[in-house]
Amino acid sequence: MHFTQVASPSAMPRDKLSPMPLTYLVSLHRSGCDVMKAPIATHVLPAHASFDSGELVIAGISATELAKKFGTPAFIIDEGDFNARARAFNTALKNAMGDRAGHCYYAAKAFISVEVAKWVNAAGLSLDVCTGGELEVALAAGFPPSRIEFHGNNKSVQEISRAIDVGVSHIVADSEIEIERINEIAGKRGVKQKILIRITPGVEAHTHQYIATAHEDVKFGFSIASGAAMKALSLAKSSANIEVAGVHFHIGSQITGLEGFDLAIARTIEFLAEVKQEISEELAELVIGGGFAIAYLDTDQTIDAKQVIEHLAGIVKEECAKAGLAVPLLSIEPGRAIVGPTTVTLYEVGTVKSVELEQGSRNYIAVDGGMSDNIRTSLYDAQYSVALANRISTSSTRASRVVGKHCESGDIIIRDCELPADIQPGDLLVTPATGAYGRSMASNYNHLPRPPVIAVRDGRARVIVRRENYSDLLSLEVASEVASEE
Ligand code: LLP
Repeated sequence: MHFTQVASPSAMPRDKLSPMPLTYLVSLHRSGCDVMKAPIATHVLPAHASFDSGELVIAGISATELAKKFGTPAFIIDEGDFNARARAFNTALKNAMGDRAGHCYYAAKAFISVEVAKWVNAAGLSLDVCTGGELEVALAAGFPPSRIEFHGNNKSVQEISRAIDVGVSHIVADSEIEIERINEIAGKRGVKQKILIRITPGVEAHTHQYIATAHEDVKFGFSIASGAAMKALSLAKSSANIEVAGVHFHIGSQITGLEGFDLAIARTIEFLAEVKQEISEELAELVIGGGFAIAYLDTDQTIDAKQVIEHLAGIVKEECAKAGLAVPLLSIEPGRAIVGPTTVTLYEVGTVKSVELEQGSRNYIAVDGGMSDNIRTSLYDAQYSVALANRISTSSTRASRVVGKHCESGDIIIRDCELPADIQPGDLLVTPATGAYGRSMASNYNHLPRPPVIAVRDGRARVIVRRENYSDLLSLEVASEVASEE
């Protein structure tokens, strides 16, 4: 089940849809004519990747060369593509909002490393971090705290203290306890901390239930409908060491239609109008989160940042005009749509076996990674494309399943696919669009060292996150001396 097929707009209650549903997904078949022949459509691959006589080449470097030099599994990130996508969102926001443009925050949770934080900074974007750990990565990269926003539904005293000490620009408050915590910590330091109140506009986003975040029965934010949002706002307003800059929502991730955003914006601006009545003040900032979908399969469509942001900016302006409010500074937080498509995972095939089933046979192709580098298939039923990456095959295809090397039958990377029948140990497979929530959700399950991230650009490849090794794993062990039995 791919997210684009989870819920069609017609499956949503009518009152949750805006009158004019707009699809923001456009096909971007960059070179068009080779789509039929390429094992994976160009719009699912990074911008500088293509198949040359059956072999995947990224930014001028072949999959074989990359595997030989850096080993497998490995995440390969197209640096130029990352920069272009980051800048496209930033420029789209600036152009659509002019002097009402707030921050284009890159959502670090999708994937962050010190090097990537430097790219984000150089591209002029801001950064959304959601833990002390992500904050430390940003600081290690020299990212200016004045462009960092701090998220999370359970920020500890230590995390908030560190964020305030280094001077992050905004903290997004997610509970009354947090508002009190921020107020107290800011007070001790003699500062007034800018915060945003995270609200839940009660929208069912079209996506997998685990990554929808703004319906009522969810751990995030304060509900508008129940009155919790207004109550939180009054608490924050009456807190001496807090400046309430505005409100924030994030309705989910891998959202394929804009109706949910339209509705969330409309409800939020209605709420801001009520706030104005209650406290005679217009809040200056509105953050509408991230969540924009990307293409995982040839049949998926991909988004145009300019078109999406223009549309959302238009709705914000329209709703503010209706409500008689000044247009707030508008910020966005895309993660997946920036990093997701820029990265592929390269695997080496280790074993192949045919399993006989009632309806025929299936080739189980086992690679040298698995659910420890891509948990999304088992966690969300996510679907990925896959192709042979090191050679051309003239063989016919077979019903295949690409699995990992973990001791678990749910360790599946691609549940159902057609791959050449002659795939052998030593062949390379590629799964594209693994940049978001791939390496960032990787684990050491079964004590597998996590894969490296290799940046490629203009014929050069370099390690930006090195491969873990057994010493890394063992370095955490604290074992007691056990007396041996004589
Ligand atoms: N802002 C907030 C407050 C968020 O919670 C998130 C994602 C984002 C922005 C970025 O959303 P994006 O543009 O990347 O969709 N692990 C799941 C996705 C979880 C998303 C969590 N929050 C997955 O693999 O699909």
